[in-house]
Amino acid sequence: MHYHVLTLFPEMIEQGLHTSIIGRAIAAGTITLSAVNIRDYAGNRYGKVDDYPYGGGAGMVMQAEPVYQACQAVAEKIGRKPRVIYLTPQGQTFSQAMVEDFAKEEDLVFLCGHYEGIDERVLEEVVTDYVSIGDYVLTGGELPAMVMIDAISRFVPGVLSNEESAQFESFQDNLLEYPQYSRPAVWRGKEVPPILLSGHHANVEIWRRQQSILRTWQRRPELLEEAQLSKKERQYLEELCRQERQKEEEGKEAPHES
Ligand code: ADE
Repeated sequence: MHYHVLTLFPEMIEQGLHTSIIGRAIAAGTITLSAVNIRDYAGNRYGKVDDYPYGGGAGMVMQAEPVYQACQAVAEKIGRKPRVIYLTPQGQTFSQAMVEDFAKEEDLVFLCGHYEGIDERVLEEVVTDYVSIGDYVLTGGELPAMVMIDAISRFVPGVLSNEESAQFESFQDNLLEYPQYSRPAVWRGKEVPPILLSGHHANVEIWRRQQSILRTWQRRPELLEEAQLSKKERQYLEELCRQERQKEEEGKEAPHES
């Protein structure tokens, strides 16, 4: 996978992604990362790439031509038109399904905006995907690009070690991850669930799956609509719902204190 990040702050991208698992993958050549400075395509001696918005209003707008030239330079380098992702709160919300789709590409271009945005005409010309990382507004697209690169890289073959990729994770099967424990077995009086110390592998697996269902039901119940559950697991979920209804009923029946 080759990432090309078009940005006014290339050092932010380089400093942010050269550590930990992504840094290791870059060092090994499993992924490559090139931060392209849009200012290098300014076309003037001052490196000026922004101007006032037509129609008035606050802030500055990034001009079309430098962005277009930076994009063209990447397309020429790789010999074809790549997928170009524009990071914007107006985009589709980033999801695990999108991670898996983007991970299939050979090259991905991330276009990071700043100021009040980028001239609409160049966006119409080059952007293939508009993506938001959530309903809040950041100062630029660099952090969202890094978030996406981190998540996508985990799905690029060879980035995670066998042990890292075999792990159960949140969103696998639309369920959240079960709780994890490590030594000591008793910490400040709190014990590790005894089943995890039993050495009974099959029972541990059943318990973990139930914990995943319980946790998803408690924290992100809407995910369960798409989850693939066995008949026994469906029964477990129904039992959870039944217990909850019972608690509610008991709450209603309890006499009011005055
Ligand atoms: N740029 C500014 N805010 C953003 C967000 N929430 N997602 C993606 N890009 C952005």
